[in-house]
Amino acid sequence: MISADYLVIGSGAAGLTFAVKIAEKFRDKKVCIVTKADDDESNTKYAQGGVAVVLDTEEDSFQKHIQDTLIAGDGLCDREVVKMVVKEGPKRLNDLIQWGANFDLDYNGKLDLGKEGGHSEYRIVHHKDITGREIETALLTRIHQLPNVNILSHHFAIDLITEHQLQIQNHENISCYGAYVLNQKTGEIKTIKATVTLLATGGIGKIYGHTTNPVIATGDGIAMAYRAKARIKDMEFVQFHPTALYEEKDGQSFLISEAVRGFGAYLRNRNGHRFMVDYDERGELASRDIVSKSIDNELKKSGDSCVYLDCTHLKVDDFKKHFPTIYKKCIANHINIEKDWIPVVPASHYLCGGIEVDKNGMTSIQNLFACGECSRTGLHGANRLASNSLLEALVYAHNSYQYLCSNPMQSDSLAIPDWNDQGTHVNKEHIIIKHNTRQLQALMRDYVGIVRSNHRLIKAKEHLDLMYREVEELYKDSKINTALCELRNMINIAHLIIGQSLERKENKGGYFNIDNSAFPEIQNPLI
Ligand code: FAD
Ligand code: SIN
Repeated sequence: MISADYLVIGSGAAGLTFAVKIAEKFRDKKVCIVTKADDDESNTKYAQGGVAVVLDTEEDSFQKHIQDTLIAGDGLCDREVVKMVVKEGPKRLNDLIQWGANFDLDYNGKLDLGKEGGHSEYRIVHHKDITGREIETALLTRIHQLPNVNILSHHFAIDLITEHQLQIQNHENISCYGAYVLNQKTGEIKTIKATVTLLATGGIGKIYGHTTNPVIATGDGIAMAYRAKARIKDMEFVQFHPTALYEEKDGQSFLISEAVRGFGAYLRNRNGHRFMVDYDERGELASRDIVSKSIDNELKKSGDSCVYLDCTHLKVDDFKKHFPTIYKKCIANHINIEKDWIPVVPASHYLCGGIEVDKNGMTSIQNLFACGECSRTGLHGANRLASNSLLEALVYAHNSYQYLCSNPMQSDSLAIPDWNDQGTHVNKEHIIIKHNTRQLQALMRDYVGIVRSNHRLIKAKEHLDLMYREVEELYKDSKINTALCELRNMINIAHLIIGQSLERKENKGGYFNIDNSAFPEIQNPLI
């Protein structure tokens, strides 16, 4: 058994920021980070556009950023949370700069600010088109300098330890005492006992075959919290990014950053028509939900597989300077942006909902905190404003840290039983897991995509129930492995998305159900 004062599950922006802060403050306390792949593998690492922060108060203002966030969230944001996060932004960005993260400067030596969909001003702080990688590297460098942090990579958190595992009957004030964790290299299951546990496990993109997320994004933290009976909210609001590079394959799709549209690129259909101007007066820079729905509508009308991003009118040298990774990826795919349009298609990108937390990142379970993409803070409402996610992760990691400084938690002397795998055997039929994973992804893509209907949601629920029973049976009989746990988690997540979609009777932001609409087809609001 490992004992830690703070157990952090996940090593993206949220988990690492919290870990750096708490470990620096309490040098005599033990911080254990578990992370299921290499320590830098995360959604954070792939973030391109940047962090939305108000720095230039002559051109911009907190009020404008607050307003843009509220408009994108379509009436479902928590106004107080939005104000708090936006106003904290500059301080939290400064933390990153202090820890060594570099952001691009303009010709006057000030931070260069980009623009993305839904933003009324230039306010996206960035490092070329690899902002996330820069942040991840700075945070990991700092973490590796801290002697009281133990980072266990290739360790998969299976389940939270609560009264349930201790066989204590308790349905009300549930507490968390740590987690059971699989060493993915040896197969050993470790008990990690902790006074405080923080979930920072990121998103869920992989439940859709076609996603901008890396393979780690299987919703594990939300599924663990759900099984432990934490409150989970807003799961119907899955955000689809409008412009993933179109390639004829499933799996992680390369993102063409929204900042490229902020830089002046146009969206065109096969006939060359700049269709976004038909749907929204902001054109290509409408918020993400509107652009994705409009593309979906164009594709349904034409039967085409993709639309196009036209950069041919942009200055190629400037483009290369701002977006070197995107430029190289296009060249590798034989796309010359000076002459060719980039084929793009929407892909699942971000989950606006998740584990419900208060302003300190506290969940409905005692001693359990959550921050970053796995949490639901109220910032995003029905649709996240571009580049508000890294901001949210930084702000909430800080808030949880600050709360724990003024409200230290007491360790418990409870004896925690080790993982019990009696009666299980090594499952040799990996194909069952693979088959069900593919089926789940197809189900989510076809029945629970950008545009939903009650009929498709009910059908999806029926299919999912069968899959759930088969996989639970397998889980009970099998020695634990990562693929099986991930599939089980993804089924829990799909159940939450479908269930909460069926409960929503009004279309908002990223949620569109044709049965909630007087107009089953998406209407052009300008007509
Ligand atoms: P992540 O960075 O995803 O980290 C999660 C961590 O948890 C990983 O280390 C993972 O391995 C670990 N983990 C998960 N499950 C387990 C488990 N069971 N056991 C142990 N470890 C586990 N947002 C912006 O604000 N600006 C952008 O420009 C931007 N661009 C993006 C571009 C792309 C391609 C993508 C995919 C996302 C982008 N986002 C952007 C969204 C943003 O990157 C993420 O929402 C944010 O980085 C999430 O940070 P996080 O720390 O919560 O989670
Ligand atoms: C992008 O660069 O388009 C992604 C920005 C985001 O997800 O916030």
